[in-house]
Amino acid sequence: MCYAIPGRVKEIEGRKVTVDYFGQERNALNEIYGLRAGDYIYAQGGYVINKIPEKEAQEILSVWKETFFELQEVDLKLSKLDLEAKKFDSRFSRILDRAMEGTAPSASEALYLFNSANREQDQYLYKAANFLRQKYLKNSCCVHGILEISNHCSLNCRYCGISKLNRNIDRYRMSIQEVVEAAGLSIEKYGFKALVLQSGEDPGYGIEDLCYMIRTIKDKYPALIFISFGEVGLEGLEKLYEAGARGLLMRFETSNQQIYENLHPGQQLSTRLLHLKKAYELGYLILTGGLIGLPGQTREDIINDLFLTKELKAEMYSFGPFLPVPGTPLGAKEPIDKDLMLKVLSIARLIDPTEAKILITTAFETLSKDARRQGLMAGANSVMLNVTPLKYRQQYAIYPDRAYQDELIQVQIEDTLSLLRSLGRAPTDLGVVHEKQVFSQKK
Ligand code: 5AD
Repeated sequence: MCYAIPGRVKEIEGRKVTVDYFGQERNALNEIYGLRAGDYIYAQGGYVINKIPEKEAQEILSVWKETFFELQEVDLKLSKLDLEAKKFDSRFSRILDRAMEGTAPSASEALYLFNSANREQDQYLYKAANFLRQKYLKNSCCVHGILEISNHCSLNCRYCGISKLNRNIDRYRMSIQEVVEAAGLSIEKYGFKALVLQSGEDPGYGIEDLCYMIRTIKDKYPALIFISFGEVGLEGLEKLYEAGARGLLMRFETSNQQIYENLHPGQQLSTRLLHLKKAYELGYLILTGGLIGLPGQTREDIINDLFLTKELKAEMYSFGPFLPVPGTPLGAKEPIDKDLMLKVLSIARLIDPTEAKILITTAFETLSKDARRQGLMAGANSVMLNVTPLKYRQQYAIYPDRAYQDELIQVQIEDTLSLLRSLGRAPTDLGVVHEKQVFSQKK
């Protein structure tokens, strides 16, 4: 099974390539040598990942062709809006109507939606978000893999289970060779086209080690690599980009400076934001977001978080519930209600309707069993599967009882594909290239 549909190169203009997928055209940036019009390729996150032989592409496409259109039909049916639902509070309906006609809600309007306490009305919000997702992004759903390479961390984030002060967990650090092998397995055997490498802020790897790791993976396997090693410094970001990393997953956690400083002793929100901005300038795809349900966090704060994500030009919105970890300073807090999370996802879609990938986080899936299906029906269009070797997975205990901490990769893939199929979604990331990105990209 693959996580991208092969496309046919229609036109090449400098680094920009027009790719045809069953008559639908998308753009991608080319980073491979000798590409020509007529070649078949896989693209991911707006990048051409690799060329594949025409025969192989034709075979895959012939299997896909029928399913591709069938899935789109199912998705279209499921995302139709039931117009009768408009009997709700008039301001609520008006904001949604305008969103569906192309005017995204302002911050105060988004807050108004957030504050609705009518469950039936909230269903309409979810449906509107799903309608917009379908309208602009069709049925593609990103399926990335995440490989957690080390749970060592030199920071002391007060909510986090792998904070250096948590003495209740065993620590591991994968060797570079182990990481390369695990990445290779995910890419070659399981077909992932995009992989996130994640760790705590682990001084056990130097920047040169991480660069070597990425370069080796990129030399051996075709994939888009995202890094998530915390604050590596602006120079570190540059080096890692040169080594081949093309995405940065780094949450700002909360846009409320006071809360940020309380929860992250010795760290500054401004430093984190500087990393995210610099990364965007360097050409990284930005995956960011925050925690929902932090002590002291208000609904205004959460709306600010969503707008900040948009301002940071995020390719992917990554928002998850804060889950209390026994034995840590916030261990006795209560987690949020799952409906609040669904509201966050759907409002994110309304605010950034046309391009955003909105992720169902593992934390949300840990909070609620049906999170993935419900989230995908409320504006989300992205999932991440855990490809960390099972012998380490349980130890990456940022919070307890993580969803998928014991599932084989193959099982996660099968479950995901069957869910996506039932919702009419295709496990593809056809990607879009933002003009700004093309220009800001280093040559
Ligand atoms: N609950 C939910 N998410 C958490 N993270 C860390 N600790 C927790 C927790 N207790 C998230 C942070 C970090 C990501 C890797 O894990 O938001 O960015």
